Amino acid sequence: MGIDTPPITPQQYEVLHGGGAEAAEIARQRLSRRSFLRRSMLAVWGISATSAVAGALYMLYPNLSGGFGSVQTVGKVSEFKAAKPADFKLELAGVYHRPVARAYVMHLDASTKFELQGALLQSQLSSENFVKDKDGSYWISLYQKCVHLGCTVPFRDNCLSFKCPCHGSHYNVTGEYLDGPAPRSLDRFQMSIQGDNVVINTGLINNTVAHPDATTQLIAAPSVACTA
Ligand code: FES
Repeated sequence: MGIDTPPITPQQYEVLHGGGAEAAEIARQRLSRRSFLRRSMLAVWGISATSAVAGALYMLYPNLSGGFGSVQTVGKVSEFKAAKPADFKLELAGVYHRPVARAYVMHLDASTKFELQGALLQSQLSSENFVKDKDGSYWISLYQKCVHLGCTVPFRDNCLSFKCPCHGSHYNVTGEYLDGPAPRSLDRFQMSIQGDNVVINTGLINNTVAHPDATTQLIAAPSVACTA
């Protein structure tokens, strides 16, 4: 017996095969139950198919959703005061957390002293997604996720750097690796200044910044150690 064929009692069987109004009523009820089951199965199939298509579209085009993975305006330029690395203070100078974009916005003063010079400096700034502003200051947007095993990395005012609470990976103000088990420097997003707005494309992540060496390190390590 199929799933859509409801069982009948021996008495109903007798009536059905005898014909008449009562038989017609039993047959009608069996038919409506069959239609109901069929419609329910079609509805369940339709909902499953719609969910699968929506999930696939989200994976393929995350920036349609307006959340993480999309282009986000995270504030006005005036909200992000620039500072020299030695003067950074979370949310007050140089370093600003924007959870909606899962990012830190770093704004380095135009007088920031870099370890490299000339063409080498320009090439490294570009490969680490720095954006130079018209006033000479520099912007970067760092992904908040530790590249070791994915913990959110806090910025520590007391040691002017990012220190992961999980296994101790340590990164300077530009996200460059300092020590710990992390396999590379912090990842960073493509960002831009559009008029008065600071804009981060959280769909474009640069995860290729290696451990720095003498030919690639942009900023000197902080002079204060991170204590527990
Ligand atoms: S997750 Fe950050 S050091 Fe392991």
